[in-house]
Formats: sequence, C-alpha cells, structure tokens
Amino acid sequence: MRKKGFIFDLDGVIVDTAKYHFIAWRNLANSIDIDFTELQNEQLKGVSRVKSLEKILKWGGKEISENQFSNLMQQKNEDYLSHIDKMDNQEILPDVCKVLDFLIKEKHGIALGSASKNARMILEKVNLIHQFEVIVDGNDVTKGKPNPEVFLNAAKELNIHTNNCIVFEDSVAGIQAANTANMISIGIGDATVLHEADYIFNDFTEIEISFIKELIKE
Ligand code: BG6
Ligand code: MG
Repeated sequence: MRKKGFIFDLDGVIVDTAKYHFIAWRNLANSIDIDFTELQNEQLKGVSRVKSLEKILKWGGKEISENQFSNLMQQKNEDYLSHIDKMDNQEILPDVCKVLDFLIKEKHGIALGSASKNARMILEKVNLIHQFEVIVDGNDVTKGKPNPEVFLNAAKELNIHTNNCIVFEDSVAGIQAANTANMISIGIGDATVLHEADYIFNDFTEIEISFIKELIKE
C-alpha cells in the first residue's frame, strides 16, 4: 500500500466557521449599504479575504479608496474573530476526528490546505494543530483557490505525488483547485453546488472508513 496524502480544507470542512464568515461579510456589506445573500456567500467560500471584499464591492457597484479598503478588511476580520474567540473542540464537525484518527493510525500524510490567515489559530483553539504534519494557509500562498497553489504546496511539503493526494473541500473554488492539481476531490456539502467533485458527501458522518480504505487501495 502506497502512502497517500490527505489534504483538508478548514472552514466548513473541519469546523463550521463558514457560518461566521457569512455573518461577518453580511454585516460588513450591509454597513456600506450592499445587500448580501447566501447565494453570493457561496461564491466567497474558499476565496481569500481581499478577493472576497473585491467581489462584494463589485456586486454593490462601489468604488472606495485604498485606505477604506484596508479599514473594511480589518472590520470584517475583527467581527469574524469575535465569533472565533469562543471556539473550542466542541465545534469540530461530527466524525471529522473519526477519519483523522484512522488516517493517523494508518500513517498517511495529513495536511491542512486553507485560504484563511487565521487557520493556525483556529486549529489551536479546537486542539487539532498537532494532528497536522503540514499546514499551508493564506499566509503561505500568493494565488488563492481556485488556483491549485495551496494544495500543490501541501503535497510538496508532505513529499507525496499529487496523484496520490486526496482533498476534502466545501467550496466550489477549492474543488476546482483540487481538480486542477490532479488530486482526488471530495466535496463536503450540497451535491448541486459541488457537482465538479469526484465524490460528494453532505458531511463526514456519511463517510465510512470502508470508503477511505477503497481510496487508499487505488
Ligand atoms: C476560507 C473561507 O477558508 O478562508 C473564506 O472559506 C475566507 O470564506 C478565507 O474568506 C480567508 O479567511 P481569513 O480567515 O483569512 O479571512
Ligand atoms: Mg472551506
């Protein structure tokens, strides 16, 4: 059996922080008189903070100065962090640890591949930081998802060929990044949204260990 690399996205895959990003972006958009829907939020999943704000301003038809832009970025992050502040390991999504523990026991490579600059802090808060051999986050890349840089870097650091890597993702941008990287993509969430993924599950409770064993065999 060849060692595989399993690369996990963070927000919306390991923890339900996607809902906090949504609340903070909606608060921000509304504060500058821009409407913000769940459908629009779907397009921001996996997308960096800068690119997300650019999209919101475009949707709202607003042009602002560089200074206002950086103030809004800070406002969004402070709002987001006020939710993160209260997090602990209770917020790890159901059965994520079941899969992680199995992969650790079987000695596969485990990496985080997240667009978030807050990723390390969140992993520490939920007490999972030591489970990850490699962490690539928003501080380590120049091109965000759907560019595959984050996953390619993770595979390189794990020292595992991209063909032997498997990505768990809840965002369209992330699934596209995994596919472009020639990795197996596993969508976590709505099948109609994540239809480009190789496999799709609503959440980790639907992922049987027998499925993981089949993936490892390939
Ligand atoms: C991604 C989220 O994981 O990280 C996006 O899906 C978020 O919604 C992006 O914008 C950047 O996160 P942060 O924590 O650096 O603002
Ligand atoms: Mg995500």
